[in-house]
Amino acid sequence: MIKKYDEAYAQSLENPDTFWGAAAEDCHWYKKWDRVLDDSNVPFYRWFTGGQVNTCYNALDYHVDNGRGDQAALIYDSPVTDTIKTYTYSELRDTVARFAGVLAAQGVGKGGRVIIYMPMIPEAAVAMLACARIGAVHSVVFGGFAANELATRINDAKPKVIVSASCGIEVSKIIPYKALLDGAIEVAEFKPEKCIILQREMEKAAMITDRDIDWMEAQAAAAPVDCVPVAATDPLYILYTSGTTGQPKGVVRDNGGHMVALKWSMKAVYNIDAGDVFWAASDVGWVVGHSYIVYAPLLKGATTILFEGKPVGTPDAGVFWRIISQHKVKALFTAPTAFRAIKREDPKALLMKDYDLACFQALYLAGERSDPDTLQWAETNLGVPVIDHWWQTETGRAIAANCMGLHAFPVKHGSPTKAVPGWDLQVVDESCNPVEAGKIGALVVKLPLPPGTLPTLWQNDKRFLDSYLEEFPGYYKTADAGFIDEEGYAYIMARTDDIINVAGHRLSTGAMEEVLADHPDVAECAVLGVDDKLKGQIPIGFLVLNAGVERSHDEIVAEVIKMVRERIGPVAAFKTATVVARLPKTRSGKILRGTIQKIADNKEWKMPATIDDPVILDEITDALQTIGLGQARS
Ligand code: COA
Ligand code: AMP
Repeated sequence: MIKKYDEAYAQSLENPDTFWGAAAEDCHWYKKWDRVLDDSNVPFYRWFTGGQVNTCYNALDYHVDNGRGDQAALIYDSPVTDTIKTYTYSELRDTVARFAGVLAAQGVGKGGRVIIYMPMIPEAAVAMLACARIGAVHSVVFGGFAANELATRINDAKPKVIVSASCGIEVSKIIPYKALLDGAIEVAEFKPEKCIILQREMEKAAMITDRDIDWMEAQAAAAPVDCVPVAATDPLYILYTSGTTGQPKGVVRDNGGHMVALKWSMKAVYNIDAGDVFWAASDVGWVVGHSYIVYAPLLKGATTILFEGKPVGTPDAGVFWRIISQHKVKALFTAPTAFRAIKREDPKALLMKDYDLACFQALYLAGERSDPDTLQWAETNLGVPVIDHWWQTETGRAIAANCMGLHAFPVKHGSPTKAVPGWDLQVVDESCNPVEAGKIGALVVKLPLPPGTLPTLWQNDKRFLDSYLEEFPGYYKTADAGFIDEEGYAYIMARTDDIINVAGHRLSTGAMEEVLADHPDVAECAVLGVDDKLKGQIPIGFLVLNAGVERSHDEIVAEVIKMVRERIGPVAAFKTATVVARLPKTRSGKILRGTIQKIADNKEWKMPATIDDPVILDEITDALQTIGLGQARS
């Protein structure tokens, strides 16, 4: 059976037209493609040019037309509202068609943008699919971001309409989504024409006359709208992700390549067939939510779970087991941090014993490095394969995984196994020379990237080239460092830029530094990610104050923490900062972040040869001590 993986991998690289052309036959096309891989404008490769499709048709109508109308498409499980609601494929198709009518009535059509700022409720998926139905481009913004981050995305995407809800629920806290949206629109330069608001029972929002539309009323009055054929290369969505500055990157996803690759991945990577139940315990605001809560399971004809809750506290650390058992989940996909949270609350997995998990076949982890402890805990207690897989917002799906539908390789802890078919994954040094097996270097992917990956950044080809393709000509830079061993197993060690992963959420320390630097008393600052037992990493800040500032340091620290929460959002989990006299730098002025990080994490470190003044590291060690990090100097 290894052959199945080897053959697929070899064919995907040697003959991508045949490989992806065959995968595309599994989808519905209004018009077939002229070319599978279009390399007429390198390095802007496109897939399935000339083809006409509709992603919503393939995700919903196709299954209704092919006898799955009465099968569950989506199960909304919300312990925070004590609700479980199932939509069959027919019901979901009808709801989406009607909401597409609501959008169309507001003048949203092919290519028009719609921002979706919603909690984890089925209407978020309905809004996404409704956009796809009429060829509009959605951009979902994660609820844990502050109004300012939402405003940045409004300015970039220029949506005609924003879809939101009155509130979200975080365990027991009510998050006023509508108020955050109003705040964002107020500060944004671009103003949407209309906002469609779903009023939730637990907190109704004040509506703005002539701008705000009530979802329920509009939905009741709307006529259903049919799917519109779009070019395979037309954009399906924009998803903003952290870049190295406060300006997020608008990752674009097309319709054709995305649809083909995601549908293929359900079987090849996750071993899921039509009719199976698949659960991605993530958020629709993240790429995992786009790909594996909404699009891929529905394209495959599976049943997807949309979970409004947390791994712990809603109501307890047994909720994952309850959902798996109650809805007969075959595979679960989540972030390691969720399992760390469960393990912390219920180390002996006693709550698991209450449930029959016979249906459960595999656990998939991604979003951050899986620590072996958590992985082993999950393996031992669940008794199923635990598969670490590696991917990025940009790639939309796994670059490396143990492809359970092709061949289950032995798991090596610490490795997401091998490159998935389609990905020519390599390790190179700074001069783009190949690095021998087992040696760390930059993880890069030889172009062309497979279908379903980002063709560019939203209206910013230059930033796409600069960010991903310039440093290693002919390759896509993943910005992850790592190595590949002699058996072809990949190991992902660290980001090479300023991105950190906090509880599986991708954040830019550069963006946080921009906020800190805006404080009137701050002369210089640095933010870096340090190890955290629960969240994997958390950000900490170092502040150098302007000369003559005599205010209490605690006060200033509290102010910068508040600023990050207000400008970036609670999801940044920026709760620790300290004032230092100076920052350690190289003689050329670069802050020695790596060294500070090692001291904070209590790891072995060497005095950098290029350091400007070694004494500063003693000061930093003392400062770290005051915030409970690193070790006291002897
Ligand atoms: N809307 C509004 N606020 C949100 C939010 C949302 N969708 N998601 C998170 N937040 C807020 C939280 O309320 C919290 O605010 P607080 O500082 O007032 O407490 C803050 O953002 C941080 O949230 P979170 O990262 O969820 O941390 P937590 O301490 O509340 O919970 C975990 C810890 C591990 C349980 C949680 O992070 C988790 O479930 N992680 C899994 C992440 C995941 O699925 N990632 C997707 C990649 S696959
Ligand atoms: P995001 O774009 O939010 O999906 O974050 C992508 C980044 O998360 C990657 O570039 C990696 O740094 C990290 N990441 C995701 N999955 C893994 C994994 N399985 N192992 C190690 N790092 C991972």
